[in-house]
Amino acid sequence: MSVKGEAFDRWIRTAFVEMNTRLEELYFGQADRSNVEGIGDTIKAALRDEGHGHVVELWREGNTGEGFDSAFNVLGNVGLYMGALRRHELTNPDNEERSPFVEASSLAFHVGASLGMAPRFATAHLATHNLAVAGVRKSFTSLADEFLFIDENTRAILSFQRTADALSRIIPLGVSNPVVDVLFDAARGGLRDVIRCNKRLFATLDVDRFFFSVRPYYKPYRVGRQVYRGANAGDFSGINEIDLLLGLCRAGDPYYSQLLVDKMQFMLPSDQARLRDCMTHRSLLDELLTLAGAHAGADWFQRSASAFLQICDLFGEAAAQHHDQLVSRFIAAPAAAMPEERLQGLTASGPPLPVLIRSLEILRDYRMAAPRTDIETRSADLARLRAAVDGGFNAVRSE
Ligand code: HEM
Repeated sequence: MSVKGEAFDRWIRTAFVEMNTRLEELYFGQADRSNVEGIGDTIKAALRDEGHGHVVELWREGNTGEGFDSAFNVLGNVGLYMGALRRHELTNPDNEERSPFVEASSLAFHVGASLGMAPRFATAHLATHNLAVAGVRKSFTSLADEFLFIDENTRAILSFQRTADALSRIIPLGVSNPVVDVLFDAARGGLRDVIRCNKRLFATLDVDRFFFSVRPYYKPYRVGRQVYRGANAGDFSGINEIDLLLGLCRAGDPYYSQLLVDKMQFMLPSDQARLRDCMTHRSLLDELLTLAGAHAGADWFQRSASAFLQICDLFGEAAAQHHDQLVSRFIAAPAAAMPEERLQGLTASGPPLPVLIRSLEILRDYRMAAPRTDIETRSADLARLRAAVDGGFNAVRSE
């Protein structure tokens, strides 16, 4: 990283965090915790101006050709800075036609385009590529609930990635190969860990702290003229690799294909490549259903199909947890208690909350292969496969 890049990184890890934390304490101390207007204006101005100083230096420096890691880090830092400006209402896409932060926008566009990513901070910046310095991860604030959220998200992402990796290794071996047992095992292990992370978040994250002091940093904001949606824990390819490899979602499905295309730019280029690769394979569900006719009685078929169904059950359980527990407890319930005029810009992807909830419900139902008449889930196909599997040991639950 260049000297200027390092100075910005140091600022993001220290003064930036301190100022955001002080502002959060001021907001949270009010009767109306969602109000940010007229609160902590001196701190807000310092945050804006100090950050601007770093941004202008880096923007003047231009692309120093120091490679992916350095550019990715600059993109994350300018993104965290712009996310905080949005959170403190120093910019608001609803009231502007272009970002008032011209240099920050230009820097983000330049670095984002050179990396092949959206010009804003992405999930990877705070999760899988969040370099800890002496134990301290990057964050907006030093609030315990923000670290809890970041850490559990990251553990869950790493666990989904482990499952995706194991499933992708089954493809070149084929489901009739006896050695795929270790891969099915690894896939199950990853999903059980996701379920544990979700349980911990559900039990320990403070609803108000998350809703009022963490989530607002994930709002959409403008870069130049364009509004970019916020990051969310889902912007990694692993979950979609699992969707496609299992066969619960299909790349040609009208709803799901749009989602994949929209999501691509928020992923690391390496994740984009993995996702593209997944789109070219036949899913395990289709493979097993094709084989069932001639081989349902074979030991290998019974073993692989049972293991596959166990994985689908665990994946469905994790999807249900996300929607019915996390989204419901930490977003839908507190939003329901808020006055209408404060709800704007609540979601990371931008649409009004009921629209977002409905689209998340669709994803949950695809992943659970729930019977629905309005979308094509794999409910009937999974039932056919279950019927082809002897014994009743495929309905595992995480312990
Ligand atoms: C407090 C905990 C969490 C809450 C409240 C939450 C809420 C949300 C919301 C509201 C969205 C929609 C994006 C938007 O805001 O526009 C979303 C998307 C997503 N989240 Fe979470 N989330 C939480 C934790 C997690 C965890 C631990 C994971 C695991 C990696 C995860 C994975 C995803 C995925 C994959 C998506 C993209 C949509 C999908 O493919 O299902 N989330 N989340």
